[in-house]
Amino acid sequence: CGIVGYIGKRDTQSVLIEGLKKLEYRGYDSAGIAVFTPEGLQITKSIGRLVNLENKLEGAPLVGSAGIGHTRWATHGKPSDVNSHPHTDHTQKFSVVHNGIVENYLDLKEELMDQGHVFVSETDTEVISHLVAREYDGDIVKAVQKAIGFMRGAFALGVLTEYEPSKLVAVRQASPLIIGIGEGENFIGSDIPAILEYTRNVYILNDGEMAVLTEDAVELMTIEGNFISREMIHVDWDAVTAEKGGFDHFMLKEIHEQPKAYRDTIRGRVHDNGRQIDLKELNITPVQIQNIRNVHIVACGTAYHAGLVGAKVIEQLVRIPVASDVASEYRYSSPLITPDTLVIVVSQSGETADTLAALREAKAKGAHVLAITNVVGSSIARDADDVLVTLAGPEIAVASTKAYSSQLIAFYLLGMYLAQVRATQTEDDIAQMIMALNALPEQVESMLENSDAMKAYAEQISHHEHLFFIGRGLDYAVAQEGSLKLKEISYIHSEAYAAGELKHGTLALIEEGIPVIALVTQEAVLEKTVSNIKEVKARGADVMAISHEEHIAGLLKSVDQAFAIPKTLPLFTPALSVVPLQLLSYYASLARGNDVDKPRNLAKSVTVE
Ligand code: G6P
Repeated sequence: CGIVGYIGKRDTQSVLIEGLKKLEYRGYDSAGIAVFTPEGLQITKSIGRLVNLENKLEGAPLVGSAGIGHTRWATHGKPSDVNSHPHTDHTQKFSVVHNGIVENYLDLKEELMDQGHVFVSETDTEVISHLVAREYDGDIVKAVQKAIGFMRGAFALGVLTEYEPSKLVAVRQASPLIIGIGEGENFIGSDIPAILEYTRNVYILNDGEMAVLTEDAVELMTIEGNFISREMIHVDWDAVTAEKGGFDHFMLKEIHEQPKAYRDTIRGRVHDNGRQIDLKELNITPVQIQNIRNVHIVACGTAYHAGLVGAKVIEQLVRIPVASDVASEYRYSSPLITPDTLVIVVSQSGETADTLAALREAKAKGAHVLAITNVVGSSIARDADDVLVTLAGPEIAVASTKAYSSQLIAFYLLGMYLAQVRATQTEDDIAQMIMALNALPEQVESMLENSDAMKAYAEQISHHEHLFFIGRGLDYAVAQEGSLKLKEISYIHSEAYAAGELKHGTLALIEEGIPVIALVTQEAVLEKTVSNIKEVKARGADVMAISHEEHIAGLLKSVDQAFAIPKTLPLFTPALSVVPLQLLSYYASLARGNDVDKPRNLAKSVTVE
């Protein structure tokens, strides 16, 4: 989601709308603004893209001196007018825009309802406006501080009240927020592009900090109310770079957003002090889970590759047979479905026609269908019996990165949850896995700091026309995604092979100097993969290995170069090993002068069969 706020003498509505246009890339299933007008606080909002809101406002503009706006990417509650922001309370004197998640909103909502508060939406945000209203005692800053004292989660807020229209309150708690400083006017925004048209002077809030804006001043403080001072930053990016968060391409930005995507996807789903997974959002009952006889995983493209990992994860953790297939094949394969078949469809956009058709086919045959998707209100999310949302945020680059890796996280969570219900793993095993899962975001961060090695390697392979990826088990599944990524954006022909299968045909293609990328992270088959590496080395291949630090020295006896990834449980390595492969294709595409974010012949979302 994206939020924006303004206080000053300009036409507030147009500042908000212009800001939201710049933020639309963060989500676009609904939008709204609240403005303090001579008639009081007024809110206009609309489902769909921003233009719908603009059309609504054209007939009835909101004129005033302060306002907040929001463009939404649904997380709690489907996209609809009523679920759009800004939200208000039953007195309609307070309005809130919010980006992020309030984990304990259901508990808070229940409490407020007991106290007589009436809710109109399904969102966690509406709870915030009611909390602020309840705590208000003549001082909006104190009311906001008290309200956030009750809230758990990650959020950024903009709050406006009719009682103190000369103040705009902003809060940052693990969701981005910046303050723009003007002359006789001030701004808030989820990021810099939202306000760049009006000012280049900003304060960047840290987690646990808030700001109180008036026309002429900005006060910064911690959420406990201790005043702080902050150096003002002068932004000299152009507008286009700003939209990409300072990165050259959306793809690179999205690669770097993976730690956040992992954290957001895990957040709220781990319970009991890290000993239990709870997927409260699922309708499937423990009895239904006990009865599952087999699982089908169906998807297209990159999502299908996430499914390949997911299949191995579920088989290993839950010991149920899992089959995966691409949607365009599955649909016409007369799939063997019984009422005890769980069909998992995976789709970033939730709109892929082939996947949607496969979902409908599976439902018609009586399967329980669970969708893993990044878009809450999408067709696939609406049609499925169950939805497990990945919280990767909007993905703009055609080549999927953070959506794929968040799908892996979703599969880990789901696998552990099913294992818990069916008691195929002990509580201690689950606790150990949760610990490893929680470590992944930081491990990805450490790899991203080290991306120069992949850049150099990418430049080296960018002159080749053919390349191979090899690996066994989960490494093979990741190899397939690495190969697809490279093909998509660098246009280098590559193939991913199960390392042990190479000798049954494809080895004929290995000749002097051909690059081979070997994934060697699975301890159980490490020696076997090393033998396969020797087979290609003997035929002249130039081998790059990706493995854990502890194996690098040994591997360097057989390979030409190696890249180390941090240590995690074997089941979780895909969530790490895919990162160097993403960087590899990004830099290879760049080296070949391609349009990284918009590769030829491809579309982000394919809504035709
Ligand atoms: C398109 C995109 C791919 C994507 C596939 C499935 O082909 O170019 O990157 O993996 O669709 O998309 P979905 O939104 O269903 O995950």
